[in-house]
Amino acid sequence: MHVITGGGTGIGRALALSLARDGHDVLIAGRRAAPLEAVAQEGATAGGGTITAVACDLSTPQGVRALAERAGTKVDSLVHCAGGNPAIGRPASATLEEEAALLEETLAGNLVSAALTVTALQGAMGEGSAIVLLGSIAAEHGVGYYGPAKAAVASYAVGLSAALGPRGIRVTCLSPGYISGTEFFAGTMTEERAEALRSQTAFGRTGEPEDAVDVLRFLLSERSRHLTGQNIHLDGGAFTTR
Ligand SMILES: NC(=O)c1ccc[n+]([C@@H]2O[C@H](COP(=O)([O-])OP(=O)(O)OC[C@H]3O[C@@H](n4cnc5c(N)ncnc54)[C@H](OP(=O)(O)O)[C@@H]3O)[C@@H](O)[C@H]2O)c1
Repeated sequence: MHVITGGGTGIGRALALSLARDGHDVLIAGRRAAPLEAVAQEGATAGGGTITAVACDLSTPQGVRALAERAGTKVDSLVHCAGGNPAIGRPASATLEEEAALLEETLAGNLVSAALTVTALQGAMGEGSAIVLLGSIAAEHGVGYYGPAKAAVASYAVGLSAALGPRGIRVTCLSPGYISGTEFFAGTMTEERAEALRSQTAFGRTGEPEDAVDVLRFLLSERSRHLTGQNIHLDGGAFTTR
């Protein structure tokens, strides 16, 4: 069983359909039932694997418990796509209380959800399994609270790789740049902004969910057996590392 959080849309949806097409059984999670059910239906016609869905809020212990119950006792991989930037499309805070709520929501959706999901599922994972947490190029640029939250996710993955390595479990953080065809920007992306982001890449091209799927399929496979504890940037060279 492969568990993909945030599997109803964007990168998680594309990964779920890719795995199902190749005969794998997949469990997807998100807060809204409708997009999850649509992906499960699509998966039913895609190939030999199944996609089952559980609607739950992974920033809460009860939501994560619901996911863990459905996942059962054998989890081959966990890809944590659930997350996002709640500041997008929201007016600037008028009060300290509103600012505190935004900060808490951002950390809860990204860092807390990753930590709770891993905590609940890691007991069902064994030798050769893989965890991938979605970070972001925003961690390098410090975008609002979202960048710091994704930096924390990447740091969490480092400690986790050391803790789970002795059990043969690989842990990586995949940090994309701009990926189109997702709900991340909640309809706020303009042609001008998309062009500006495209021009920051070495290829002058926009990333797509399938670009992430190809890297994720490698990270879930035995071909990445000696790869753990890394933050992998997937951004067409928009942010380079050495
Ligand atoms: N698209 C980009 O340009 C980009 C760039 C860098 C990093 N990322 C990261 O990549 C990951 C995947 O995002 P995406 O690009 O595929 O965008 P997306 O389409 O917005 O996917 C995010 C998914 O996470 C789910 N989700 C959010 N909070 C959740 C919660 N508390 N509990 C359960 N599910 C939750 C959402 O569904 P519900 O709303 O129904 O819960 C949604 O399906 C995210 O972590 C995002 O921050 C995206």
